[in-house]
Amino acid sequence: MEEDAVSDAIERVLIDEATIDARVRKLASEISDDYADVQYGESGLVLVGVLKGAFVFLADVARRLTVPHHVDFIALSSYNQGESSGEVRLIMDSRINVADRHVLIVEDIVDTGHTLDYLQRTFRARQPVSLRTCVFLSKPARREVQVTIDYLGFEIPDVWVVGYGLDFADRYRTLPYIGALKEKIYKS
Ligand code: PRP
Repeated sequence: MEEDAVSDAIERVLIDEATIDARVRKLASEISDDYADVQYGESGLVLVGVLKGAFVFLADVARRLTVPHHVDFIALSSYNQGESSGEVRLIMDSRINVADRHVLIVEDIVDTGHTLDYLQRTFRARQPVSLRTCVFLSKPARREVQVTIDYLGFEIPDVWVVGYGLDFADRYRTLPYIGALKEKIYKS
């Protein structure tokens, strides 16, 4: 990505690459310990990444797991981009039948909580053996629905963040750090 455009858009680095790497390794280690007895296959562990934002986090966590696992994706969208309407739309469903499997939902961020609440209700209805959530960032100040997060990367303040999968208008997703976006960018 063009460096000038990035430096002009990012107010400050909130979480740098080394800090992300250390936290992701710790999370992967905890998950590996917790699922140590789960076998691969029919009753195995399925990571369900929520597109688009979770693709970077899921790739990093999954590659550091020491337990066998399947990878799947689901794509959702809020009806009102930027504004929380509380309504979640299913764009693309996951493919693996999760009945009788252990499901770990992998999300980049929980903001109002509506998306994760929708996901938890949706997957619970599919009767997995277990259902847990792994979330990279949480903004507790924005929460409207209480949701359970089993594995959390970082709590952050209520600022617009980009990088490590997170975007503004589909930009900045591939920055290797979490940066706070300048107000002039999201208000323009
Ligand atoms: C973001 C994020 C979560 C959701 C969280 O997705 O990836 O899925 O919003 O918000 P909530 O807690 O208020 O429901 P977004 O709609 O930006 O789509 P994207 O991941 O494709 O960028």
